[in-house]
Amino acid sequence: METLNREAGNIKIRVQNLRKVFHSRFRSPLLALDDVSFDVGEGEFCCIVGPSGCGKSTILRIVAGLATPTSGQVDISDNGGGKMLSAMVFQETSIFPWMNVWKNVAYGLQVRGESSSTIEKQVNYFLEVTGLSRFRDSFPHQLSGGMKQRVSVARAFAADPEVMLMDEPFGSLDEQNKYVLQEELLSIWKENRKTVVFITHSIDEAIKLGDVILVMSRQPGNIKESLEVRIPRQDRNVENLRSHPEFQQLFGQIWNSLKEEGVRV
Ligand SMILES: Nc1ncnc2c1ncn2[C@@H]1O[C@H](COP(=O)(O)OP(=O)(O)OP(=O)(O)O)[C@@H](O)[C@H]1O
Ligand SMILES: [Mg+2]
Repeated sequence: METLNREAGNIKIRVQNLRKVFHSRFRSPLLALDDVSFDVGEGEFCCIVGPSGCGKSTILRIVAGLATPTSGQVDISDNGGGKMLSAMVFQETSIFPWMNVWKNVAYGLQVRGESSSTIEKQVNYFLEVTGLSRFRDSFPHQLSGGMKQRVSVARAFAADPEVMLMDEPFGSLDEQNKYVLQEELLSIWKENRKTVVFITHSIDEAIKLGDVILVMSRQPGNIKESLEVRIPRQDRNVENLRSHPEFQQLFGQIWNSLKEEGVRV
């Protein structure tokens, strides 16, 4: 794997030699991840693309502490201040159906025991930037799919975790909703500079959002390539991005790399 030129002190997430074997009573053990290592810099937006089943979600679940690796380790540098280490946004909506929008977004802050004035301020801010203020009293079943994903994103950012982990959060949205949410995510990210690991099936989406794109091999998953996206942020809008020469070059490189894996993406 190509190494990125970063100051050692700026590494936020360090993933080292992850291996994951799933055991089952009904089939032979499955090697899902084989020696996966990568670093994500502080405040960096890291996208992961790879063939279906190559272990992307497994990596994210291990980084989130929701699953344990068979071997290897994950370190998230903790800046202190009692923040939760990570917040996760899943592909399928993961908000609480019994809580209204406001309570869903407030949840992480309440768990952390923040004061009611801090909670009020943070929640209102994130409802505003995700365009949900008018729906603060609505329940999830009254919202569209795009709105529910907005609630998930607002909730994760409002919780102010050390790192943000997103597993194909816009995968189920239509094209227009996806563009709008990508823009909103980028504007929140620019403002808050969270370290983000973002999984996607879409090469376009990875180039639009990422500072770095990790390309995975087919199962057992490994990091094949680590590519820096040098397209200036101001050129990454819907109108200009696809005609940018570096977009075409990167797209071709990632596409060929995935094609070598011989699978659908
Ligand atoms: N809890 C589990 N028990 C057994 N096998 C599992 C488990 N979770 C994942 N796997 C297997 O591990 C492999 C990697 O799964 P994972 O969900 O990480 O892939 P993925 O890259 O996220 O795929 P997709 O792009 O389709 O979401 C798959 O073969 C899957 O069947
Ligand atoms: Mg997955």
